[in-house]
Amino acid sequence: MKSGLLGIEGLSRTHIDAILARSHDFQPPPHEPFKRFEILKGKTIVNLFFEASTRTRTSFEIAAKRLGADVLSITASASSVSKGESLVDTLNTLGAMRPDAIVMRHSASGAPHFLSRYLPVPIINAGDGTHEHPTQALLDARTILDRCQTLDNLRIAIIGDIAHSRVARSNIYLLSKYGVQIVLCGPASLLPSEMKQMAPGVELTSDMREAIRDVDVIMMLRVQLERQHEAAFPADEYFSFYGLRPEHISLAKPNVIVMHPGPINRGREISSEVADSQRSAILNQVENGIAVRMAVLERVLRQ
Ligand code: CP
Repeated sequence: MKSGLLGIEGLSRTHIDAILARSHDFQPPPHEPFKRFEILKGKTIVNLFFEASTRTRTSFEIAAKRLGADVLSITASASSVSKGESLVDTLNTLGAMRPDAIVMRHSASGAPHFLSRYLPVPIINAGDGTHEHPTQALLDARTILDRCQTLDNLRIAIIGDIAHSRVARSNIYLLSKYGVQIVLCGPASLLPSEMKQMAPGVELTSDMREAIRDVDVIMMLRVQLERQHEAAFPADEYFSFYGLRPEHISLAKPNVIVMHPGPINRGREISSEVADSQRSAILNQVENGIAVRMAVLERVLRQ
């Protein structure tokens, strides 16, 4: 991880296993607080977010603090980007202050990869456009392991706006390394046929009931209205075809878990009954985000 963590695609299974195992060490026992460590004492981490975020930005910040690092978070609207400074100049400016790592979210696919070629500071990708969101896929894997005890050979449906989803792409890269059968489902306009070629074992369907049949995990995705250039489906029409409702759950395996990276749109892609049910692992995903990001920060910064 010399250049940080830019994506899942280039990570080996051994590498992923190591992060997942280490994140397990950082998970607190139920109803106990997270422990504080001094593993990254003296290190400085900059969180630089050019797109909105609640979960990722907060959990990177908490993870860094729990490891004893100094962390500062900058949003684009509060930076000199709002005065016309270019991305390269902003990053060079921050690089000159010699942080030990930069955590970065940007709306342009490939932005962190481009910058990591020029900056000596390790960059951790916190989501780049429609490309990758590596720590989301890692925390999703941690959550599946907690509930299903294995990733190997599961059957997982990913449902929603596949076309614009960096979460779907990072999950496909990760889960396919474990032989997972991945069913991608969404309206044809949000389900690019070339995604079938991303990995062996990827199937495509626009029929939500078919997608859910016999799966171990249902991963719902938000419709990313901010990335769509065409007219969006009305929320109630989308919900009637692709909204996850209680009647869908019985089509899956009996212990199926429901996941969603958030933010969730109740009544568009998921009903409140399902989001708040015993099957839902949505808040477990949020909690696991901290332990997984602690494992990633430790790995990147202790080279
Ligand atoms: N899952 C996720 O990336 O959420 P945020 O946009 O709130 O960070």
